[in-house]
Amino acid sequence: MMPDLSVNIAPGHETGLLLRNPVMISCGTFGQDGYGSHMAAGVDFQRLGAVVAKTTTVLPRLGNATPRIAHAKAWTMNSIGLQNPGIEIVLREQAPLWVDWEVPVILSIAGERVDEFRQLAAAVEGTPGIAAIEINVSCPNVEGGLDFAQSPDFTGEAVRAVVTSTRLPVITKLSPNVTDITVIAKAAVEAGTHALTLTNTLIGMALDHDEARPVLGTVTGGISGPALKPISLAMVYKTYRAVEVPIIGVGGIETTNDALDYIYAGARAIQIGTANFSSPRTPQEILSGLERHVTRSNVASTTDLVGLAHNAVLPPAPTNSSH
Ligand SMILES: Cc1cc2nc3c(=O)[nH]c(=O)nc-3n(C[C@H](O)[C@H](O)[C@H](O)COP(=O)(O)O)c2cc1C
Repeated sequence: MMPDLSVNIAPGHETGLLLRNPVMISCGTFGQDGYGSHMAAGVDFQRLGAVVAKTTTVLPRLGNATPRIAHAKAWTMNSIGLQNPGIEIVLREQAPLWVDWEVPVILSIAGERVDEFRQLAAAVEGTPGIAAIEINVSCPNVEGGLDFAQSPDFTGEAVRAVVTSTRLPVITKLSPNVTDITVIAKAAVEAGTHALTLTNTLIGMALDHDEARPVLGTVTGGISGPALKPISLAMVYKTYRAVEVPIIGVGGIETTNDALDYIYAGARAIQIGTANFSSPRTPQEILSGLERHVTRSNVASTTDLVGLAHNAVLPPAPTNSSH
């Protein structure tokens, strides 16, 4: 018999957000367009805990100049630039398709002003087919001149605008491009987020060696894939000690052991991104791997494994020192 891996990733919300299992597809990596189009044959995403649909903005966005993707052995770098058709079209054309799906769909939203976050959450409110909202704060605040994600105040304002405009559970996805992620995490929790997703991509740059010029049209882009894992893992570990809400770990997960590492660091659920492009069955394989691991380990569920790494004998609080 398969173990029951169900997890509530929003226990602080009035109805909660109960997922059948802790394995999710991360934002921007679900199908070709991030909304689940052209899924490869044999991909059984309906069995997963949830999928996060592409970050959607108030108005349509064409995205950044090309090239927008670079690859190396340990990482992928993207500068897609939140290409999406805008909230009106997503709610009219995509959401109705999700109503009959077994897998809950979480919609990611991003605004350039606090008011746009409010507007997006209000537009989503009451739309069948959307189980929760994930706030993407890794976007420029045109009023503040910084990414929302880099300021606890801006993050708090964006979260407050969303939670006060919707009855849905709200998850806030944080950026690793910060000095101390716990400061931002605490601001998001104080503003009412029900869960945190850690992390988005890390800023980096790739050079075309022969041409001696940047590969990406935007010069810099967001690093994802295996190189991101130790960074996001440390952020999950630190944040687990700092806040009470559930953490969803994401960054470089390719195997069951990668997923378990995040769970041991403190993640109640995990998301898989880049691996979907090279190997679209990764999430279902990791789900099967977690089921086997739980059965073999004689625990009831992955929730019994959350935060285990904190029981190890270690200094009380991690520092930023590398020595
Ligand atoms: C092509 C691509 C597009 C992405 N688009 C989004 C997006 O629209 N919104 C968002 O919050 N994250 C986006 N991400 C970030 C992923 O959801 C994830 O946080 C990140 O890639 C780290 O996970 P991974 O190493 O498993 O890919 C994107 C990542 C990739 C590779």
